[in-house]
Amino acid sequence: MPSAYYQPLEPQASDDNDERWAIEDDDEQSCGQGGRSSQYQHQHTRCYPQLLATGDQLPSMGMAPRLRSAWSCRRSYSIMLLLIVICVCFVGYFFVSPQSSGQGNDGGAEDANGIYEPHNGKGKRRHIKLILGMEKIPQDHPFKATISKRNHGRIHGTNGHALDEPLHICSESPEDRRVYIQDKPRSAYAQLPVIYFVTPTYPRREQIPELKRLAYTLLHVPRLYWLVANDQERCDTFLDTLLSGFGIPYAHMASPMPSEFRKSKPAPRGVANRRAALQWLHQQNITNGVLYFGDDDNTYDLRLFSEIRQTQRVSMFPVGLIAEYAVSVPVVRDGKVVAFLDSWVAGRRWPVDMAGFAVSLAYMSQYPNVNMPYKPGYEEDLFLRSIGLRIDQIEPKGANCTEILVWHTQTKNKKSAVVRLESEFLDGRSNLGALFRSLKLMGVASASDSEGPVATISKNGKSKSHSFFLS
Ligand code: UGA
Ligand code: MN
Repeated sequence: MPSAYYQPLEPQASDDNDERWAIEDDDEQSCGQGGRSSQYQHQHTRCYPQLLATGDQLPSMGMAPRLRSAWSCRRSYSIMLLLIVICVCFVGYFFVSPQSSGQGNDGGAEDANGIYEPHNGKGKRRHIKLILGMEKIPQDHPFKATISKRNHGRIHGTNGHALDEPLHICSESPEDRRVYIQDKPRSAYAQLPVIYFVTPTYPRREQIPELKRLAYTLLHVPRLYWLVANDQERCDTFLDTLLSGFGIPYAHMASPMPSEFRKSKPAPRGVANRRAALQWLHQQNITNGVLYFGDDDNTYDLRLFSEIRQTQRVSMFPVGLIAEYAVSVPVVRDGKVVAFLDSWVAGRRWPVDMAGFAVSLAYMSQYPNVNMPYKPGYEEDLFLRSIGLRIDQIEPKGANCTEILVWHTQTKNKKSAVVRLESEFLDGRSNLGALFRSLKLMGVASASDSEGPVATISKNGKSKSHSFFLS
């Protein structure tokens, strides 16, 4: 990912097992309140006025009338109470603050929507609140609380499940119509776990060629279910036809990026799409097989699929052409992942690219609060945090992460072309009418009577008027 886009977090000391992000929900107690309020800010607005109100109510509780100095007594009682509360808060603060500065490599916090915020001075109060709640989290549910926090935001519904946007399926077919895959009949692969290959895509002039190139790779992969989620409000019927034509089991969803993110820079690209695919998996109750997030513009080695297919929890491997180092890779020693080489750390516990890991769905299904928040640059990190991964559980692939099996290739992104070509000539007299109709359907180019550069049509090195060749 282009690191220049993202605001890095402050570097922090590392502690691989630090589960500060796995904040649990009942951290209210630090403020003496029951109930759930996951944000420090909430806690303050709720807790403080209540304490003051309690102090105000004390005099009316029966002791005032007898005493001459009732008012001053009440006042000093209130002040004392307030002082005690302040002391308790102070002690709490100093008790936990060394952890906030000394532990973990997270260095971030979440906002009222449960969205990860880079750690900076302004975020400190929330951060502390997160730490206060930390001790109550069972180690095996590291992301529980983060999710409960998100219930306050638009990402989360009232039912507590993170992924609750409406799911729009445009077309789907679970049928594998391929007769032969590589050098064997399809039946030879029947026992293999299924790979759910999630591809976010969006309308632009490169979309169809990208998807075709990807499809022709995927056609060689047995037991693969292609989940294609298009970043567009409405279903694209051209895509329906294209996808069903390959004979690969697939589901095509319309998963538009929420409008409030559309203008943000950087935008959370592919997130609504992946969230839709996660919802699809959840709704289908799929708890077997392997999940892989495969963007539409990457380049995939066929060996990648054999490598990830047996993933037990989470497998990881190098991705070529990432950012400054042209690679993002786990560091492996004695067959174990011990660290990560990636030019953009930014406080991420899992500084990996989306294409650099695969997840077992049997494993993921143990984490009902799996999520991918709309936080550009942190999608991989927060997703992996949401499934409670520990570094010692990672399965390195690609010959212990020495081989590149996936490349982060990027295609130049240009606006759809407009060519001036009179509609009166775009009929059946030549190929150009049909061709430009098809180019328009694919979002590649369109012909216009009045806009764009005049289409040059030539013969023997000499261009002539459109009417010369087409009328
Ligand atoms: C890198 C990572 O490889 C992505 O997995 C990650 O989502 C992205 O950064 C990010 O964090 O923004 P990069 O090549 O920079 O990818 O981004 P794109 O390839 O432009 O987009 C990632 C995926 O989202 C693609 O499959 C693309 O088709 C899709 N996308 C992009 C949308 O669905 N909507 C958009 O507006 C843009
Ligand atoms: Mn890309």
